[in-house]
Amino acid sequence: MCGIVGFTGARSAAPVLLDGLKKLEYRGYDSAGIAVMDGNEISVSKVSGRIAGLCEKTKDGAAVPGTTGIGHTRWATHGAPTEENAHPHLSNDGRFAIVHNGIIENYAALREELIRDGYHFQSETDTEVIVHLVEMYYAGSVRDALIKTVNRLRGSYALGVICSEEPGKIYAVREASPLIIGVGVGENYFASDVTALVNYTRSVIYLEDGEFAELSEGSIRIFDCTGQEQSKKVSRILWDVQAAEKGGYEHFMLKEIMEQPAAVKATIAPRVSGGKVDFEELAAMSDEELRAVRKIVVTACGSAYYAGCAGRYAFERLCGLPVQLELASELRYSDPLIDDTTLVIVISQSGETADTIAALKEAKARGAKTLAVVNVVGSTVAKLADYTVYTWAGPEIAVATTKGYTTQTATLNMLAIYFAARLGRIEDQSKYVAAMQALPRRIQQAIDLNPSIPALAKKYHDNRALFFIGRNTDYAVALEGALKMKEISYIHAESYAAGELKHGTIALIEEHTPVIALCCNPSVTEKTISNIVEVKSRGAEVLALTFRTNRQMLSVADDLLFIPEVDALFSAVIEIVPLQLLAYYVAKENGCDIDKPKNLAKSVTVE
Ligand code: G6P
Repeated sequence: MCGIVGFTGARSAAPVLLDGLKKLEYRGYDSAGIAVMDGNEISVSKVSGRIAGLCEKTKDGAAVPGTTGIGHTRWATHGAPTEENAHPHLSNDGRFAIVHNGIIENYAALREELIRDGYHFQSETDTEVIVHLVEMYYAGSVRDALIKTVNRLRGSYALGVICSEEPGKIYAVREASPLIIGVGVGENYFASDVTALVNYTRSVIYLEDGEFAELSEGSIRIFDCTGQEQSKKVSRILWDVQAAEKGGYEHFMLKEIMEQPAAVKATIAPRVSGGKVDFEELAAMSDEELRAVRKIVVTACGSAYYAGCAGRYAFERLCGLPVQLELASELRYSDPLIDDTTLVIVISQSGETADTIAALKEAKARGAKTLAVVNVVGSTVAKLADYTVYTWAGPEIAVATTKGYTTQTATLNMLAIYFAARLGRIEDQSKYVAAMQALPRRIQQAIDLNPSIPALAKKYHDNRALFFIGRNTDYAVALEGALKMKEISYIHAESYAAGELKHGTIALIEEHTPVIALCCNPSVTEKTISNIVEVKSRGAEVLALTFRTNRQMLSVADDLLFIPEVDALFSAVIEIVPLQLLAYYVAKENGCDIDKPKNLAKSVTVE
């Protein structure tokens, strides 16, 4: 996690760095800092806490003169989020300042070695070893010192470096952590992701692992890890500037919830036409390759994993293939039963989640065909997978994903239809295609049908625990619903397969325990209603999520949330929406920092 940014040009660097850091704050927000070079002078400003504090300290950058600089927003791994541990870190001779995103796995041994050699450490971070190594190896060329330094490092890093001997220059290095170069006119940049750059440029260069960039106001040079100069393609960013702004909403999360009809439409529209689902991106996958698939393994982390849980049903039903769900952090160390007859589907909004990348590499090493469902173009997962299908959700800033999840789920649904058709298991796709095309409209209806959510949040916010129950597809959505509630409202929320209640959890039900019951799958409605009756007779307060036409529920539940009727196979895309809104308003009632929940970061680039 952590976000890094760098700027070199003719104007004042600090305001550009601070603006970039604000955009990257979702990556980590426990401390922050900038280092700005004015002539040969480097000055460092750091704070424990948010970027707003850094803006205050530096008078929005006005107090820090200089046209070259680097910045960092931190999600602490090694060392508490104090000012001392905040980046940038300085070398002992004061000539180098460095910012780092990632983890240096062999830092302890390096630290000991450097201390033996007389270097003094100011922080507890793993990062600080890097700046001392650079100082140690510096003999007139920053590039050479960096090459020697990274040869000593094990782990993941995106680095930004400035050196007082080279005014006007910034260096960036990438290894297993996201980093892009922004190409400007008379100024250049680097950043952890495009959101920090869209205000300044649409032209970017994606660095590969092991590559270095040497930037000055008028030049960009990229080298590989041996110092060989590389020629790189400049790509265009398609996201618009407003997409990374709040646009009048109080929080990014609410804006992103409301954007879901458009995001899902943008994801679906290019893949459906003439009554068929088609993925251009998968044209190179031969029928032979597809027929050889004996099982599908879906792997991911967090909500992306839950999107996989929801997507599973359509694959099994339509493609007739077994689907195995594996958390990426588990798969990577599990000696998985994956071979060349397995299709491994990797899901990731950011495309940079460390465990997901490791699981993908493991699957490839075992000969599986790999297909990535990713939102960020050019991200590591997108580049590594054999096939990549993008979700076109646009930038997602709130730490808790919303449109990321719904676009992933919709994409999985389309993939299931597409593969089933190619496998000859469905002749006429038209009813499925119509269901896909209706999803954006249905999401909007799911928003419009529930004006009572802020009032329900007032009723349910003051609880220590909430239970989410459901069966089958409803259970898959309950997993994500409970996660949303936990991560932003800090209320303990557990999701249970409704049929499992009797095996333990029902012991926790007492007078007024809130139970959120998902009941949108007609094949199990009766069963779930029985479970609702069971918890109600033990005093539970039940908030049911169901169709408006489900008259029976009116008399069973205490409160109701509605979605329009939709085929259960694809209902997750719709069903999650009222639960996102409920989590949002409960968190708001509880005065939580909704876009930046405590201890979390959006892009988990460390293991
Ligand atoms: C973090 C985010 C979640 C996300 C998960 C996986 O925990 O807060 O919203 O689902 O990482 O991230 P990815 O980028 O791989 O989808």
